[in-house]
Amino acid sequence: MNQTLHRKLTGICADVDTTQPIAPFPQRHIQKALMAHFKKIQYSHLYTLFADDPQRGERMLLEAEGIYLDYSKQRVTEETIQLLLQLAEESGLRQCINSMFHGDKINVSEQRSVLHIALRAPKQHVICVDGENVVPLVQAELDKMTGIANQVRSGSWLGYTGKPICNIVNIGIGGSDLGPVMAYQALRFYSQRQLTFRFVSNIDGTDFLESTRDLDPEQTLFIVASKSFKTVETMSNAQAARDWLLNSLQAPAAIARHFIAVSANAAEVAKFGIDEANHLHIWDWVGGRYSLCSAVGLSTMIAIGPTNFRAMLDGFQQMDQHFLTAPLDCNLPVFMGLLAVWNTNFLATQTIAVLPYEQYLQCFPAYLQQLTMESNGKHETSDGVKVNYQTGPIYWGAVGSNGQHSFYQMLHQGTHLIPCDFIGFIEALNPLGQQHELLLANMFAQSEALAFGDNVQQVLDNTAPTRPTSAQTFTGDQPSSTLLMQQLTPHTLGKLIALYEHSVFTQGIIWGINSFDQGGVELGKTLAIQIATQMQAVQADTRKFDSSTRQLIGLCLKAKQGLKSEQSL
Ligand code: F6P
Repeated sequence: MNQTLHRKLTGICADVDTTQPIAPFPQRHIQKALMAHFKKIQYSHLYTLFADDPQRGERMLLEAEGIYLDYSKQRVTEETIQLLLQLAEESGLRQCINSMFHGDKINVSEQRSVLHIALRAPKQHVICVDGENVVPLVQAELDKMTGIANQVRSGSWLGYTGKPICNIVNIGIGGSDLGPVMAYQALRFYSQRQLTFRFVSNIDGTDFLESTRDLDPEQTLFIVASKSFKTVETMSNAQAARDWLLNSLQAPAAIARHFIAVSANAAEVAKFGIDEANHLHIWDWVGGRYSLCSAVGLSTMIAIGPTNFRAMLDGFQQMDQHFLTAPLDCNLPVFMGLLAVWNTNFLATQTIAVLPYEQYLQCFPAYLQQLTMESNGKHETSDGVKVNYQTGPIYWGAVGSNGQHSFYQMLHQGTHLIPCDFIGFIEALNPLGQQHELLLANMFAQSEALAFGDNVQQVLDNTAPTRPTSAQTFTGDQPSSTLLMQQLTPHTLGKLIALYEHSVFTQGIIWGINSFDQGGVELGKTLAIQIATQMQAVQADTRKFDSSTRQLIGLCLKAKQGLKSEQSL
């Protein structure tokens, strides 16, 4: 198909040519072949790809570990996949996977191993960091978590006044919050319903106050999850929790019955006043956004029970083994990663919409945002060289079918090319009449409409206007993948998360970036401290700030001053 015909088909996008890659990966031999191939197929509409190859939908799929990935509606051919696999080989993906699993310090900027895979490794595995096998350490913490979870679930963990704990409040932010919230929501079906779970993350006091206003302090257990135990948001909320508890119980000794810390920083935990017995350990080789399988997942374990938690870990482990051992050409995370690279660097897409057709996965897109964007939102390679190609795409999304009634309009008829990941489960956890069939039908219909549109045949036959103008026109050619699993269980959730984790890893290796640091979040933190210092000072000195920031601070201080004088009248 030539450019003119393609433009006729995708008429709405004709003036917004997003399909011009800037020849990414100049250092790779395969780059020339990839660019030549891209030029050859760039105007192949999905409609014609399917028309020319009616069995495409039966061949362009990968099924492994109980996950079915249909990538036939991506704008790729078999040659594309072969070339991308060569790109992966040439980028040293296989060696990099081995290095990660071996415990090498692949987080080069922080000189750390990257071993979230050790958190779910079988007991008999040996994974060493600086000569020490970390698997027994992981198992010891899991055993400690199990003890706590069993006590809380059985009602034998008593608060200071002797009442059983029935409210669990996780205080954390970023990876110490998004994983626990997502997993709790995702696995709620399996949770102990007599227990109440809350998740406090925001520095905005409303979060803490609204999350605790209906809770009885005597029956509330706080889990303060912070790898560093220094994060301002978490430590402020933990302090608020301590005040809230002590205001009611009036006894510092109550802390021991109502606070658990999850952290790599024993000194800060002790300083806060949490007993070593209530301190669950994590390690510097676990990144925050990869920490759900560690003690950061304690709230999840309390909710669903140790057996289900172990099943989730087994799911993660199954996908880890698949990633480690499956040949690249049938490796699910590798495929997912390469498709993201193709879309980002060749089709010049900027985002990926994650669309789970499963209500329990309502927090999954937000969880993926940190996983993907904190990992791959980098503009320098691991060697410190500025890249001249796009790296991590923007991940976003919402559950179907809700999204269909808000932003899907743009997917179908907007000017942006937005690849989508549809995620669905064959069996419903909560069957209600025919609703599950309708849910899945909606998911399949959306990927079909996005791929094929509704006027493609007419355009090909030249019986439609060359430039469709009707608001009813669907041009199609919007790429998507569909992930299908049997049912949402702790085990399948583990596999799904690990699939995305390793897809992120794959992308990072192709882009040559370090997916495991997050230096970019530091500047804002430092500036916030400087601004807060002035906003809280008796005599604010804002001279060193830029005129905009100075003005904004001034407005707040003035309003605060006004309030004070009104109150003193
Ligand atoms: O500032 C970003 C970040 O470091 C994330 O990477 C991390 O998940 C989050 O803050 C919370 O960090 P911590 O667990 O140390 O409180």
